[in-house]
Amino acid sequence: VRAAWSTDILLAIDREAPHTLRGQLEGQLREAMATGRLAAGTVLPSTRELAACLELSRGVVVEAYEQLAAEGWIVSKRGSGTRVAKRARVPATAEPPQSPAATYRFDFKPGLPHAESFPRRAWAGCLRDAALHATAAQLGYPDPRGDEGARVALARYLARARAVVAHPSCVVMCSGFTQAIDLIARVWVERGMSRVAIEQPGFVGLATHLNRLGLQVLPVPVDREGLDPRQLERSGAQAVILAPAHQFPTGAVLSAARRVRLAAWARERGAWIVEDDYDAEFRYEAEPLPALQGSAPGHTIYVGTASKLLSPALRLGWVVAPEPLVGALALMKRRVDRGGSSIDQIALGRFVEDGLLDRHLKRCRGAYRRRRDTLLAALSRWGFVDEVMGAAAGLHVMVRLRRDVDEERVVAEARRAGLRVFGGAAYRQGGVAGAPALVLGYGAIAENDIDAAVAALAAVVRRCGADDARAAAREADSSDDVAVCR
Ligand SMILES: Cc1ncc(COP(=O)(O)O)c(C=O)c1O
Repeated sequence: VRAAWSTDILLAIDREAPHTLRGQLEGQLREAMATGRLAAGTVLPSTRELAACLELSRGVVVEAYEQLAAEGWIVSKRGSGTRVAKRARVPATAEPPQSPAATYRFDFKPGLPHAESFPRRAWAGCLRDAALHATAAQLGYPDPRGDEGARVALARYLARARAVVAHPSCVVMCSGFTQAIDLIARVWVERGMSRVAIEQPGFVGLATHLNRLGLQVLPVPVDREGLDPRQLERSGAQAVILAPAHQFPTGAVLSAARRVRLAAWARERGAWIVEDDYDAEFRYEAEPLPALQGSAPGHTIYVGTASKLLSPALRLGWVVAPEPLVGALALMKRRVDRGGSSIDQIALGRFVEDGLLDRHLKRCRGAYRRRRDTLLAALSRWGFVDEVMGAAAGLHVMVRLRRDVDEERVVAEARRAGLRVFGGAAYRQGGVAGAPALVLGYGAIAENDIDAAVAALAAVVRRCGADDARAAAREADSSDDVAVCR
């Protein structure tokens, strides 16, 4: 076969095919436009360039373009070249799927920071510097643990702000908590571990993923003091994954006594603790809590993420692992993706070292605290919840509804009313029953919308309760304070 290819637009001309050269070119371009592979507005190569690529005479290409222009597929304008015409048909499948969030009037999805708080200029400056000044070595395949400057900056920051015992050589950069747990679990499986405890209620996607990797997942109940260590001890787990600073979704803070007991459990059993420190920087009351890792650094794998601090779009996370695990994690990281983006990590390192993260967090803490206060005031005013949990920190609260309220119906009706809310059931493993509750994220909702959103939610909850009369009476009584559990 004697053929020539164009790679700008994937086209191939076969000189031994029965069709004319012009016919082949026209046919392929027409099909590419009809199927949407060439979208309206796409600039086509000049006749000279395309002729050279496809080893055709320029006249053949000119004739093909003229025919397609006559059919209305393409338009040529002096100065801006030849483009696919607007009226060229684009199939419906070429449309990007609509974001589900866009269809909600108010979005209480937990775990999202406010997009407007993202420090665009500061981040862009760090990214620009990283791209301009990365050394030749930094532009090659990276150390699978990540850029050294980023690891040094994070080790210093974590020691200072979270009391993590961290040496840069023990930091492994990764793509968020999601990848951290994937790497850790893969290492566990290779080492023959099989039983891992997680929090109940907790992060449900985590259990599914661990199961898929072949681990047995043991849900351990969480109460007001966090994960119950007695049940953990009885479970026979070889490791536990928990968020001690602000449990997800209850917001419980692991009590001091339980921290000590958990550290002792890990030491005595030679077990691992994975500390998910996803939103601990946002603490609004009392002193900040140090990371649990400092109590048992030899047994704790600390995981942090930029997803709440900055944006989940960065897909940046960091692990501080006990020394004996670092090599295995780095090797796994190399096997999985040969390391993360050095440019992004260099930018993060600079963002942290230059004090921009501290400045950003200070600003965000104030903004989120105001939003949280507005939410608590609205919940109190509209009076449809019995208790608010986990309000001292983070970007969400969990609210307990009256026992007679049908949680599933509330979630479905709220969504129909344009409110995205999540029920407690969404966070319980294995369909275990629980008291009716909602998880309300306040990171992504505008402060000015909170009262109206809570009012709308109150109306939905009122419709979904068996005891409507009592609910109406409660709502009328604005002095009926809600218990807020920090
Ligand atoms: C409990 C918990 N931990 C960690 C994360 C962050 O995951 P990632 O860093 O992969 O974005 C989330 C995100 O929703 C979360 O809910």
